[in-house]
Amino acid sequence: MRTVTLPGGERVPALGMGSWSMGEIPAHRRDEIATVRLGVELGTTLIDTAEMYGEGLTEQFLGEALSGLRERVFLVSKVYPHNASRRGVQHACEQSLRRLRTDRLDLYLLHWRGREPLAETIAGFEDLRAAGKIRYWGVSNFDTDDMEELFALPGGDRCAVNQVLYNLTRRGPEFDLLPWMRAHDVPLMAYSPIEQGRVANGGAIAAIAAQRGVSHWQVALAWVLRRPDAIAIPQTSKIAHLRLNYEAGSLVLSDEELAQLDSQFAPPARKRALEMI
Ligand SMILES: NC(=O)c1ccc[n+]([C@@H]2O[C@H](COP(=O)([O-])OP(=O)(O)OC[C@H]3O[C@@H](n4cnc5c(N)ncnc54)[C@H](OP(=O)(O)O)[C@@H]3O)[C@@H](O)[C@H]2O)c1
Repeated sequence: MRTVTLPGGERVPALGMGSWSMGEIPAHRRDEIATVRLGVELGTTLIDTAEMYGEGLTEQFLGEALSGLRERVFLVSKVYPHNASRRGVQHACEQSLRRLRTDRLDLYLLHWRGREPLAETIAGFEDLRAAGKIRYWGVSNFDTDDMEELFALPGGDRCAVNQVLYNLTRRGPEFDLLPWMRAHDVPLMAYSPIEQGRVANGGAIAAIAAQRGVSHWQVALAWVLRRPDAIAIPQTSKIAHLRLNYEAGSLVLSDEELAQLDSQFAPPARKRALEMI
């Protein structure tokens, strides 16, 4: 499994698993648990969740699904912006830990920017880090100006990742956000890497998929993973899709294939505000 190095030097798998919507429908639970556990066996051991997902149901689901596997997993959760005051993050984190049945998060992210001053959130995250309840912290849905503001604050440069919407159909961050992050050693965690399954099949992506004998979703995932600083967290509730995503982790697209994809999904020619799902 290819890895991405966090600013502190720790390596995490470049291919992880998302969890949005998991654990919400009882009839899907067995398959979802089997999928998550197989992912850990295969090595997609970075797992992303949030207190927002199912209002705690997804974290609870993961607490159950990861029974006996916790020590093999790099566990990421996110705090709601309205809980992101210095004291608010303590309480929110405690709740997440309880639901996830663990004593620490590996990475805790501010889900998106809200009204709480960033300095408050940093102070809350640093308190949690000092108490051993989180190992690293980071942000999500931060555009370049947000990152600049964060890094101008004391301790702001301890941010370990920025999790943003990035895939073949959402290349806006390539214009200035990703270069800024690379220059400041902040890895990208790409969410919705296959555009929630909606990446259209046709043109160059279909031709490459056919030639390689893979699906166009696998090509889309391999495209995100072409960046050495990118962690991708596709979500699936199906064992068969998990295996395909895992295989895409070792699919290396050639320069020629990348150029073909550029002609179908053009890189940005100007700044676009960061998009969110
Ligand atoms: N920070 C944020 O604001 C934010 C926002 C959105 C998402 N996220 C995180 O990022 C994760 C991933 O994003 P996402 O869930 O929005 O979208 P995604 O990973 O791009 O796509 C998920 C969808 O694609 C399908 N799928 C997965 N693998 C497939 C495959 N190999 N072939 C065909 N279909 C496949 C899944 O359905 P099946 O179950 O049928 O496979 C699911 O419906 C989330 O789960 C969440 O953890 C974060």
